[in-house]
Amino acid sequence: MTVCEYKPGLENIAAAQSSISHVDGKQGILEYRGIGIEELASKSNFLEAAYLLIWGELPRQEELEAFEHDIRFHRRIKYRIRDMMKCFPETGHPMDALQTSAAALGLFYSRRALDNPQYIREAVVRLLAKIPTMVAAFKLMRKGHDPIQPRDDLGYSANFLYMLNEREPDPLAAQIFDVCLTLHAEHTINASTFSAMVTASTLTDPYAVIASAVGTLAGPLHGGANEEVIAMLKEIGSVENVRPYLEDRLQRKEKIMGFGHRVYKVKDPRAKILQNLAEQLFEQSGGNKYYEIAVELEQAVEEKLGHRGIYANVDFYSGLVYLKLGIPSDLFTPVFAIARVAGWLAHWKEQLAVNRIFRPTQEYTGTHNVSYIPIEER
Ligand code: ACO
Repeated sequence: MTVCEYKPGLENIAAAQSSISHVDGKQGILEYRGIGIEELASKSNFLEAAYLLIWGELPRQEELEAFEHDIRFHRRIKYRIRDMMKCFPETGHPMDALQTSAAALGLFYSRRALDNPQYIREAVVRLLAKIPTMVAAFKLMRKGHDPIQPRDDLGYSANFLYMLNEREPDPLAAQIFDVCLTLHAEHTINASTFSAMVTASTLTDPYAVIASAVGTLAGPLHGGANEEVIAMLKEIGSVENVRPYLEDRLQRKEKIMGFGHRVYKVKDPRAKILQNLAEQLFEQSGGNKYYEIAVELEQAVEEKLGHRGIYANVDFYSGLVYLKLGIPSDLFTPVFAIARVAGWLAHWKEQLAVNRIFRPTQEYTGTHNVSYIPIEER
């Protein structure tokens, strides 16, 4: 058997064939099942996009209604899971809380009927329904408050913001949050999606698949950059300080958070949409200092680094939008996970359809025929 050349990080190695999403990094195109992200962001909504990703086609009216209805019905979490979450340390990171709670679902719904379409649908519905409830519950419980029960009269995104902030969001905020979820729902094979696929390939249960993906998303090289963008905008402090700050940082060979991407060599199409949303939100409330700093910084980075293909990525404006929606910065990555569950489930389902367990090879760099040395002689 021919062994392929070793590539650190599997860069440019095709690890699967997939029809779920497509990225063209030169032209700045992202498509879900062939539909452009701009069209989905303006005409669709998160649950419809999730359905499209997972089942491969846009749902008919009655299919979408049934999907939304079932998700609404399954939003509550078992009191035993809530009791378990109450024991989590309040200083624990919300991503660790989410990974543990997602895995705990497997204790309650453990049947692994992976060849049964009804089981697959129930798992999809449960995970999409319960992950937001668990994220919001931990936010309140770590302060010693009881979690807020989901409200059946609210849509998916409005209900999440309601459970998080203990008040009903205004319709624009809910709509903008829903677009954010749509934008983050899927992005081909990245680290967390690959992690989901590897776990899925062992034919374990879907809750283990999602828990493993959440654990992978939690790392700072993957899900955490938007938190750092906010810290950076605060450090800059004023529009006048943008260019001196940038010069200083570049001279020290430090990266500017929220810029650059392994695949996109132009502005990330999701960053364009998020910037529009941020503008709408801040216009409504009479402007915002950090948004002005961000716009100036983007302009300055483009002048300095644009010729090297370094432009704003999805994380540059998302943190600003989330803060304005009342989401604390350590919940940015859990919110990313709420959206990405759709993509992970789509890849889980796709993996099951053509499953072969992942078992790559390695280049052995160790020694051979070494004699064992008794402990007293070492
Ligand atoms: N600011 C300044 N310089 C940068 C930046 C940046 N944000 N991004 C890349 N560069 C420079 C690097 O310093 C490097 O320069 P060099 O060739 O002189 O050493 C060159 O561009 C290539 O950088 P790499 O890190 O090797 O590029 P890669 O494609 O591997 O990295 C990455 C992409 C990791 C996203 C990188 O651009 C980065 O660290 N950006 C900042 C963090 C960030 O915003 N991450 C979120 C990404 S989106 C997401 O994961 C959801």
